[in-house]
Amino acid sequence: MSIISLEEVAKHNAKDDIWIIIHGKVYDLTQFLPEHPGGQKIILKYAGKDATAAFDPIHPPDIIQRFLAPEVCKGSVDLDALSKIPQVETDEDKKIRLAREKIPRLDEMYNSFDFETVARSVLKPDAWAYYSSGADDEIAMRENHNAFHRIWLRPRVMVNVKDVDPSTTMLGSHTTFPLYITATALGKLGHPEGEVVLTKAAYKRGLIQMIPTLASCSFDEIVNAAGPGQTQWLQLYVNGNRAVTEKFVRHAESRGIKGLFITADAPQLGRREKDMRQKYLQEDPEEIVRNVTKVKRDEGAARAISSFIDPSLCWDDIAWFKKITKLPILIKGIQTAEDAVLAAKYGCQGIVLSNHGGRQLDFAPSSIEILAETMSALRRENLDKGFEVYIDGGIRRGSDIFKAIALGAKGVGIGRPCLYAMSSYGVEGVEKLFQLLQDEFEMVMRLMGVTSIADIKPEMVDIRNIKDHFVSNPIDYLANSAYERMQPRGYLSKL
Ligand code: LAC
Repeated sequence: MSIISLEEVAKHNAKDDIWIIIHGKVYDLTQFLPEHPGGQKIILKYAGKDATAAFDPIHPPDIIQRFLAPEVCKGSVDLDALSKIPQVETDEDKKIRLAREKIPRLDEMYNSFDFETVARSVLKPDAWAYYSSGADDEIAMRENHNAFHRIWLRPRVMVNVKDVDPSTTMLGSHTTFPLYITATALGKLGHPEGEVVLTKAAYKRGLIQMIPTLASCSFDEIVNAAGPGQTQWLQLYVNGNRAVTEKFVRHAESRGIKGLFITADAPQLGRREKDMRQKYLQEDPEEIVRNVTKVKRDEGAARAISSFIDPSLCWDDIAWFKKITKLPILIKGIQTAEDAVLAAKYGCQGIVLSNHGGRQLDFAPSSIEILAETMSALRRENLDKGFEVYIDGGIRRGSDIFKAIALGAKGVGIGRPCLYAMSSYGVEGVEKLFQLLQDEFEMVMRLMGVTSIADIKPEMVDIRNIKDHFVSNPIDYLANSAYERMQPRGYLSKL
């Protein structure tokens, strides 16, 4: 492959002749420019330059081979010369560098909320905006955890709780305790190695990882990072082009994935205003003031990556999935007991009650709120046997896990806390998070007078207030620390 000088690449910096460098290779993106799902602007920003740092978090590494013809690769650049280009530290970079220098020690982390606090100071603003945002007013996002505050415990005492075993099985696979890593997109926004960090931590703690369709790492990288016997599941966004989905599902099955979780709550991505606003803030203020740039208000990382999701997905498609795979099929994003019953009737092996971390429909109920009624509906229809119900959203404490198990969940998924621990401390951080949650869960089991998962029963929780919704309360951590109103923009002072 021919070596191209950086000076030569720099000459191709216009819309009708645009080259960029990604991982040391030079690509002619002139033809591809109008087709880029993330828009033209971001490519134009790197015209004639190295775009690797911006490319990596948003794209799996094999995407170029999959979508671009080999001829668009013009050659390579001298990596030595590339590394010598001086990096300018922006004010924002400096703030993050200083925050990272002062990062608390891992043993100062006492609970899952602590990771959130640290992550907010060490994440780049676009990463924080993407990970932390919820839909609209973020009421559903905050409610997800708050709903647990309305469930009280009924502890039993004088039970021998010397030995407590929190282990169980989920879809037939062993897990140290009933918690799994749920799917979250764009891991490299938070950590340069992306989702494999979560894979390694899950292996060390004996937990299951659900691999996201929209990971920054490729599917195979994440599977290859698994340890011997480690269980992984796949979260699936169904593509408008079903042939793409079929290939992906068959490949996942051949790589030993143990469960297929079809996401049903995102026929259109919700409005995450923090994420959209961040995109707006990234534009050049001078250009916006001069009205050179017309910023589309409906953008943000979420929109850029999700255009392929098929809004026509419906119950009738389950039969097709059953034809293409033997994997257990679960529907992720069920939000009513009625749909839980339908999933069982259509022959799915289970569901995840979820409102997508409050990122889709604001005012969709929290999963813990509808868990008890879902289990009753399944029992009424005699559909509960062998049908596994999982929940995600707002799980931050060992007691939250206990409450979910008491109400009939087989296990619970956590998303954002893993991202925050990963972004702040890498593998050790995620392991620490899991250890904290496991210790809390074991303590709650002991103080509740149970020694095994099978002992955890519905009568151990009091859910009489579960339907009493309220928006905020004094320990509404997310409201106090994550919800963001519009900040005055720097350039306004220049007007
Ligand atoms: C999100 C999608 C992509 O919630 O899962 O951002």
